Amino acid sequence: MQTLPSPKTPTPVQSTQWIFDPVGYMKTNFKRYGDLFEACVLWGNSAPLIMVNDPKAVQYILTHDTRKEFTSPGDVNKLLEPLVGKRNMMLLSGNQHQNRRQLVLPPFHGERLTVYGAIIQQISNDLITQWPLHESRNTREIMQKITMQVILKAVFGLHQGERYQQLEQLLRIRLDMTGSPLASAIVFLPWLQKDYGSWSPGGRLLKIAAQTDELLFAEIAERRANPDPDRVDILSLLLAARDEDGNGLTDQELRDEMMGLLVAGHETTATALTWAMYWIHSLPEVKGKLMAELDAVTNPNDPSEFLKLPYLTAVCNETLRIHPVAMLTFPRRVEMPMELCGYQLDPGMLIMGCIYLIHQREDLYPNPQQFRPERFLEKKFSPYEFLPFGGGVRRCVGSALAQYEMKIVLGTLLTQCDFALLNKQPVRPGRRGVTLGQKQSVQIQKKGLRSQQSLQTV
Ligand code: HEM
Repeated sequence: MQTLPSPKTPTPVQSTQWIFDPVGYMKTNFKRYGDLFEACVLWGNSAPLIMVNDPKAVQYILTHDTRKEFTSPGDVNKLLEPLVGKRNMMLLSGNQHQNRRQLVLPPFHGERLTVYGAIIQQISNDLITQWPLHESRNTREIMQKITMQVILKAVFGLHQGERYQQLEQLLRIRLDMTGSPLASAIVFLPWLQKDYGSWSPGGRLLKIAAQTDELLFAEIAERRANPDPDRVDILSLLLAARDEDGNGLTDQELRDEMMGLLVAGHETTATALTWAMYWIHSLPEVKGKLMAELDAVTNPNDPSEFLKLPYLTAVCNETLRIHPVAMLTFPRRVEMPMELCGYQLDPGMLIMGCIYLIHQREDLYPNPQQFRPERFLEKKFSPYEFLPFGGGVRRCVGSALAQYEMKIVLGTLLTQCDFALLNKQPVRPGRRGVTLGQKQSVQIQKKGLRSQQSLQTV
């Protein structure tokens, strides 16, 4: 059996590259070592961390992450604790983790999504109306506003009022604090998170966290005091939930779950929507095909019409393939000695599926740097060849909502308005906290209004 390959450079050097140039780090090492290698980067714990990009190996891990060969512990995600708290599902393990998922999953699937459809379209329409003609905008800001409103509505059942405004502002400031590769260093270096005074990044972070908590706890207290059985938002469902012994979630548990859903639920989808707008407006052929499909929709005011469109679906998939917002799955821990891809794995090792590199495999996606939605119409990929939402026991709880939202937002914006991309240079992927965002801002201009069939440039 072969020894696990590992870059020889010291951990601080590897960590620096991983923080500032994650794509370069992954590409270089996979080119050098193949489908599996040990990464020596800061990840908030000292266990060896293995990155793997072989779809068969990832399939094996994600279909065996139910406790015998692999587990999916929450304590290895400590890195996220300052943001989402230690009682969030991402930091829970075993039964506790599964129970929490059972509570949170239902509102993100099936019937509930239909209710969100109309809300998503309304929010998108309002934003278009407020955007003056001929003016350009940073696409991320527009998309973040839309996805934030959607998640606040879904999680709290509110999208207006003073508390909403304050929460939106604080979350935006908080997430923008890790909006560049340099600023993202704070996520990986705990000493930067310490409070050295109000001028220090850690001090600012803690102040914003305290203000955010105040709003979240106030909302929880108010809702506890005035229970409304007719409300079906996630906070209401979690407030009413009881375990076998009749115990409900504590305020701290509720706060941590809310925070996790707010953060995971809007930044990721906003990044994906920004990339989608970028690619659609970079490639006239893609835009032409998409607009032909959208113009054939009989009732664009019915958001469900957008969900069935094959080319729009392919555009969303290709966006999530070429720029997966989450580069890696959460770590799975090896629980017994085993062999994977010809290498010996020992208990305690952490292994992460490398979503980015799987999506870049030439054997699966010929010419992988090219944005070509047609590949999703020509071939069906397995859930381990195309896995923007991970898989197994930690598969993204918001995957259905995110895909639903992408199609409705894009369908609504593109049928209503004609846009132009103003960037003259290609936009590159760059780190945004623990996710992969854009290195440069994507500037889009609202060029004209469209009626359903024809364009009226004003
Ligand atoms: C384009 C948008 C999104 C992408 C690309 C994405 C991706 C992911 C990935 C890769 C994982 C880890 C899965 C694994 O380790 O196997 C994950 C987990 C998670 N996602 Fe998403 N996500 C998105 C949107 C959302 C939304 C809209 C929500 C909630 C409203 C959400 C909530 C979560 C939560 C709570 C987890 C942790 C699950 C657990 O620990 O069991 N995500 N997501």
